[in-house]
Amino acid sequence: MAQDDSGSVELAGTSSTAVEHPAEHERLGDPGIGVVVADAPVNPGFPAHRPRVTDLDPKRNRQAERTVFTFFYLSIAGSVWAIAAYMAFPIESGNISDVRTSTLFIGLGMVFALLGIGIGAVHWAKTLMADHEGIDIRHPVRGTEETRERVIEIFEEANQESGFGRRTLIRNSLIGALVAFPLPAVVLFRGLAPQNEDPVKELKQTMWAKGVRLTKDPTGLPIKASDVTIGSVFHVIPDGLNDAPDMLDQKAKAAVLLMRLKPQDLHVSPDRKTWNYHGIVAYSKICTHVGCPVALYEQQTHHLLCPCHQSQFDITHEARVIFGPAGRPLPQLPITIDDEGYLVAQSDFHEPVGPSFWERNS
Ligand code: FES
Repeated sequence: MAQDDSGSVELAGTSSTAVEHPAEHERLGDPGIGVVVADAPVNPGFPAHRPRVTDLDPKRNRQAERTVFTFFYLSIAGSVWAIAAYMAFPIESGNISDVRTSTLFIGLGMVFALLGIGIGAVHWAKTLMADHEGIDIRHPVRGTEETRERVIEIFEEANQESGFGRRTLIRNSLIGALVAFPLPAVVLFRGLAPQNEDPVKELKQTMWAKGVRLTKDPTGLPIKASDVTIGSVFHVIPDGLNDAPDMLDQKAKAAVLLMRLKPQDLHVSPDRKTWNYHGIVAYSKICTHVGCPVALYEQQTHHLLCPCHQSQFDITHEARVIFGPAGRPLPQLPITIDDEGYLVAQSDFHEPVGPSFWERNS
């Protein structure tokens, strides 16, 4: 490759210069595979370092320090605010305005907690930490002993330059902010768990019981067996669920998918012979992996797909797992019809719904 006066680059062997000067061509290597950069740019190096106002003026330096630890204290206040808001605005009533109020005030606290740490750290780095640019040459993963010793030196230098060990107010307020920040999450997650109750027992019981009608989600209208045609699928909730005080909790356990297959397509074990009604089967909608709703039904193959991690369940074989991380089949709800032809449950599920964890701990 060669370059003309105009600065344009040509492939070696294609320019007239390369053909007329074989010695030059030989030096460049095989035509078409070599690249010659005749005017490689020169590394201009770093621009001259310009001191910041906080480097020159001790008063501004102290002011910046105050700003940094103020942000970290603001973060602590935000975390405390979030915990206080969780306690002050409980959402046990299930009222939507209570949910909004609680979410708003908890969210505000967490915003201040996160922003306080973020802005404080950025301000610290921009105004107080040393801002000399440097080049970090890459090395093999494990360095030599000298390199490792140098790393320790660098850490010590960084400690000196950032003032982490020296500026105790900043350091302690940052540690305090980082310790306080996860606390709202601990409190919030604890609030999600059943209060004073055994979660295994809770999950083993749903609203399904003998004679409870299967109704459409979300209308609550009962379903007749004659409404369920072959290939159709219904999202189902137990009758009365919409009036339950803990409706969402109950729905999270009792949601069911109802499908109708040709009876000859079903392979059922002897103890489940009576659990379907003329090919109509009902399975828990809660994935046995980590509890997502299994809501995608493939009518041709009779497979149910969980969209979260792609577990697939074969409805023709009692919802056994044929793909994905789910550990066990979807629990089946035994069903029949009542005197008026409406589909009803024969009993509750015979095993805990949801992630396999509960199965192992039952
Ligand atoms: S929750 Fe269904 S596959 Fe993970």
